[in-house]
Amino acid sequence: MKILVTGGTGYIGSHTTVELQNSGHEVIIVDNLSNSNINVLDSIEKISGIKPEFEQFDLIDTEKTTDFFKRNNDIQGIIHFAAFKAVGESVDNPLMYYRNNLFSLVNILQGMKDNNIENFVFSSSCTVYGQPEELPVTENAPIQKAASPYGNTKQISEEIIFDTVKVSGIKGMALRYFNPIGAHKSAIIGELPLGIPNNLMPFITQTVIGIREQLRVFGDDYSTPDGTAIRDYIHVVDIAKAHVIAVERMVNKKMKKDFEMFNLGTGNGYSVLEVIKSFEKVTGEKLNYKIVDRRAGDITQVWADTKFANDELGWKAEKDIDEMTLSAWNWELALKEI
Ligand code: NAD
Ligand code: UD1
Repeated sequence: MKILVTGGTGYIGSHTTVELQNSGHEVIIVDNLSNSNINVLDSIEKISGIKPEFEQFDLIDTEKTTDFFKRNNDIQGIIHFAAFKAVGESVDNPLMYYRNNLFSLVNILQGMKDNNIENFVFSSSCTVYGQPEELPVTENAPIQKAASPYGNTKQISEEIIFDTVKVSGIKGMALRYFNPIGAHKSAIIGELPLGIPNNLMPFITQTVIGIREQLRVFGDDYSTPDGTAIRDYIHVVDIAKAHVIAVERMVNKKMKKDFEMFNLGTGNGYSVLEVIKSFEKVTGEKLNYKIVDRRAGDITQVWADTKFANDELGWKAEKDIDEMTLSAWNWELALKEI
């Protein structure tokens, strides 16, 4: 199958490209390199043996996107990763987020409609659930008002896709990721955070390698067993594999509804201190951290009910927390060499 991967040189997109290629699919990447590096194409080739086709342009450019789809109307499925994703930045600059994340989506859906391309997989987030009343959280849990413009772009995007699916031949699938961490086992691709990381895992690895001085653990007074907040961390390669299954399900016409959504998590929650413990155990390194106040906007705990994804997609996350933290560390070590 010929699959368009938007944002394919980014963190999750690059891992997904490798898994698609490993499953025999042809990948064409579109990315404007606003948050990734052209060298990732060579890294992908090093792992899979195949350099993906690549076009560099901004998906908010309607003319370029229209032209791209005219030239590539034989694409069978689209996996749309391209978006901005920094929560704090979205609070400071909401219009930048609404423009980038929503205009690009509209342009792609229009291109699909005009060229009869049917299958669209969308990167959504567990952020749409806010702090769920019941855990583990299922796909039927009520969507809560987004805590940030970034989160709001995910909610609005799901609605845009839903409305489009109702009146066109397009089929949509929203994959709601929990907390993707880790890197490919080769340590040839991984996450490349620009500037000071907001997310826990890259902050841990950068602290231990000496780029940051100390990790601040945001709050130890949550109503959790050790007082720190709990998340469902999931290995990025498990996420990537789910996308291969998702797009194959669509192209092979196995969907039960024209718009489906799935949780991509492991179903296990780990506290911040448990992640640190795993990291220290598997790497033998010591992390310098201190407990500080809670971070504004953080929820206490969330983890996924994965039954629907397990049953319907036949997919299950395979890698445990130790594999996640070790692969993240190996990637940090590899980055030092670059
Ligand atoms: P990333 O920043 O590493 O990758 C996104 C890629 O999209 C980058 O390579 C960037 O250059 C590109 N891009 C952004 N805007 C573009 C545009 N207008 N035109 C063309 N290319 C553009 O991010 P990621 O972590 O790989 O995330 C991928 C997707 O998954 C995003 O939609 C993100 O919101 C979503 N998501 C990520 C996480 C996470 O923790 N990483 C969690 C939930 C959801
Ligand atoms: C954040 C975003 C979410 C986004 C996800 C992936 C917020 C409120 N949510 O989720 O929308 O989909 O990233 O990009 O920003 N922590 C520390 N110290 C740190 C960093 C994090 O203690 O320096 C803690 C946090 O308080 C949290 C956990 O680690 O309990 C995970 O944090 P993070 O990796 O930022 O992810 P989320 O906040 O879950």
